[in-house]
Amino acid sequence: MSEKKIIAILGATGAQGGGLVRSILSDKSGGFTARALTRDVNTDKAKALAELGAEVVAVDIDNEESLRKAFDGAYGVYAVTFFWEHFSPEKEKSQVQSIAKASKDAGVKHVIWSTLEDTRNWVPLTDNRMPSLGDGKYKVPHFDGKGESNKYFTEQNLPVTFLLTSFYWDNFIYFGMGPKKGPDGKLALNIPMGDRKLPGIAAEDIGKSAYNIYKNGNEFIGKTVGISGGHLTGKQMADSFTKALAQEVVYNAVPFDVFRSFGFPGADDLGNMFQFKHDFEDYFCGARSIDISKSINPSLQSFDQWLDENKSKIPLE
Ligand SMILES: NC(=O)c1ccc[n+]([C@@H]2O[C@H](COP(=O)([O-])OP(=O)(O)OC[C@H]3O[C@@H](n4cnc5c(N)ncnc54)[C@H](OP(=O)(O)O)[C@@H]3O)[C@@H](O)[C@H]2O)c1
Repeated sequence: MSEKKIIAILGATGAQGGGLVRSILSDKSGGFTARALTRDVNTDKAKALAELGAEVVAVDIDNEESLRKAFDGAYGVYAVTFFWEHFSPEKEKSQVQSIAKASKDAGVKHVIWSTLEDTRNWVPLTDNRMPSLGDGKYKVPHFDGKGESNKYFTEQNLPVTFLLTSFYWDNFIYFGMGPKKGPDGKLALNIPMGDRKLPGIAAEDIGKSAYNIYKNGNEFIGKTVGISGGHLTGKQMADSFTKALAQEVVYNAVPFDVFRSFGFPGADDLGNMFQFKHDFEDYFCGARSIDISKSINPSLQSFDQWLDENKSKIPLE
């Protein structure tokens, strides 16, 4: 029987959880083992995790009893929710409440909650610099629901680390945010960040950082930790793209209102998010120190390193 500490990982077939599973399993002598939680243990992604050595267990994140079973015997829980599956902060809050209750019942020793800011603490609903969304209850719904949910862990007195993540550079591959050809035929990076810095990270580094946070548990329990591999302006990212792709990429600082009106699902939420990061640049970058991120995860990638490895996957339309 294994004496290793089990980390039960939500979203194990996804970006954050997947990185954590791979990180744990690649460190054979690290003293931890991965319990990969998925809705369907029979998918190719779930089977690939089992082949790597993960214990793959089915979970329904909307069902507290299912979460309790999935966390049974675990030392740690990696808690992440999936806003873009449903676009509902209410659903996210109710899921986090269940995760916190189930973690308490299972007697988990260390929860890492992948959270974000409740932006209403900076931009109250009465502040008209950006529209209120989600029936007028939120400014950045996919942030606010997570930030509001922090209380579910503190109310339960759980040993928790609040992990503030950053914009995945992988969004340039999978989220339609990569450089696009404009009417002049030139590739342009269309991001509403003005001349301010956007903290970003290689998605794989989130899991690597989380693993090291579990390994150094006592140092991080009860703390908020922000991680980022680089703070770059749109112009700096465009210059890096130009070098990596060996063709010119210009930065187009899209106005916030124009971005909000792009019309794809969640454009208004993301437009508000970028405006929040723009308007509160000092706070937002300061909460995601690169030095601290490196001290937690010494193999942290910079944007140029990430680009070098991933440039062939970026769709250039
Ligand atoms: N994109 C960014 O730049 C960024 C930055 C910071 C934070 N975030 C946040 O990251 C979160 C998503 O994390 P991610 O990017 O790691 O996810 P992801 O790569 O989209 O993967 C989601 C995984 O979650 C599982 N899942 C989805 N719905 C589920 C449910 N109802 N019950 C149980 N499992 C479910 C799916 O696994 P199965 O199909 O195997 O069940 C899927 O593989 C979002 O809330 C987002 O706001 C994103």
